[in-house]
Amino acid sequence: MASPKFYIRTYGCQMNERDSQIMAGQLQQMGYERADKETSADLIIVNTCAVRGSAEEHAFGYIGQLKQLKDEKPQMRLAVAGCMSQEPGTVAWLKKHASHVDLVFGTHNLHELPKLLDEVEQHDEMVVDVWKSAGEVVEHLPSQRAEGVQAFVNIIYGCDKFCTYCIVPFTRGKERSREVAAIVEEVQSLAREGYQDITVLGQNVNSYGHDLNPAVDLGDLLQELEKIDGVRWLRYTTSHPRDFSSRLIEVIAASEKITHHVHLPVQAGSNAILKRMNRKYTREHYLDLIDQVKRAIPDVTLTTDIIVGFPGETEEDFEQTLDLVRTVRYDAAFTFLYSPREGTPAARWEGRDPVPNPVKKERLNRLMELQYQISWEANQRLIGRTELVLIEGLSKKNPNVWAGRTQSNKVVLVARDPAEDLIDRFVPVKITEAKTFYLAGQVAGKPVSDVSPRRRVELPLV
Ligand code: 5AD
Ligand code: SF4
Repeated sequence: MASPKFYIRTYGCQMNERDSQIMAGQLQQMGYERADKETSADLIIVNTCAVRGSAEEHAFGYIGQLKQLKDEKPQMRLAVAGCMSQEPGTVAWLKKHASHVDLVFGTHNLHELPKLLDEVEQHDEMVVDVWKSAGEVVEHLPSQRAEGVQAFVNIIYGCDKFCTYCIVPFTRGKERSREVAAIVEEVQSLAREGYQDITVLGQNVNSYGHDLNPAVDLGDLLQELEKIDGVRWLRYTTSHPRDFSSRLIEVIAASEKITHHVHLPVQAGSNAILKRMNRKYTREHYLDLIDQVKRAIPDVTLTTDIIVGFPGETEEDFEQTLDLVRTVRYDAAFTFLYSPREGTPAARWEGRDPVPNPVKKERLNRLMELQYQISWEANQRLIGRTELVLIEGLSKKNPNVWAGRTQSNKVVLVARDPAEDLIDRFVPVKITEAKTFYLAGQVAGKPVSDVSPRRRVELPLV
């Protein structure tokens, strides 16, 4: 009999992508194979994101679309997982509007997937198993990672910061760090398998280790990980300015392996808004931190997240955000319209979402325009430099061009010699052109890495 097939659609952040890899690993152990499209799957899992309303609308829309497929193939199973499952209204909504869903589970019990699928076969109604809080950290789950040389490794789950706009502390629970030894063991085995670009993950990696006994910090962990042979690049995401320590800055500055990309979400430039957001730092503290980072790491790539239109944001508050962006001169910024999330403190405030949508959008446009100009200028200074680029694949738009990234996560398009397959190789590239969102250049030397044992499918060489 042919093996059953699964298909997973993942929304949201890298934590969710990693969770999907763990679901895939368990399914593979149960004898499932990956399907390349929904129509050939016996099981579809929708791994959802709740961070903004738009992410939720996409997932709800997708679940709705799958109704037709379920009608055509009633034996197909449909599961909803991830952050939306953890929200109070989701199960009721699904029961009312999406009764074709067979299983709902959350972020705290993905290790129980085999048992849950078994339960689905024993019940006619929707099986719902969402845990309110997390249990102990579960180690040694099987996982099916992406092909290539890049791997995500969880180091801390959850978040204790409770920013007033954010749903994550509710959907992902309190902070739980993994033991250093477990992380080192996992990275050692990844390096042996040929993974060379390791990204350690957490909602707030900077608070890593405070809950361990003895307590350790992210600097200690990164120093352990950079000792591992075979690890070429070491990255981390995501950070909180409050816990970004001087010691960590020193560790990054002194390291060849740890990325010189610092992503420091500022969210807003005015102290009044930062206070209402419960960010626990001031504009002045943040700017001091950025100064420290720039002094210690002169070639740093700085990026941030900014929310526009938070409740109470006045034109003056917003101008302080623009002013901060002009002062810091980020390489790039991820900018978002404020989206009230049910269950968060800000969503309970009077007026709920008082900045009118057209005002929010107009502010967002001004912010993006400013940032694009700065990104373009920041990229110009790389022209003429030779950067090591990890080639990830062919450019989507032009098969005569490779697409890759620098250690600082800048996208680089590289002119391609069809006689040479450079996928998953680390290649020196001379930068010849710089745009707002990417750099372009030419191969300027032999790949520094051996052919990876984890190669993807061979490309047809044209
Ligand atoms: N509305 C808009 N943006 C949000 N973010 C988190 N919560 C919200 C919200 N309710 C943004 C923050 C965060 C990024 C991952 O998403 O900028 O850093
Ligand atoms: Fe979205 Fe946050 Fe959940 Fe990641 S942790 S999937 S960003 S809500």
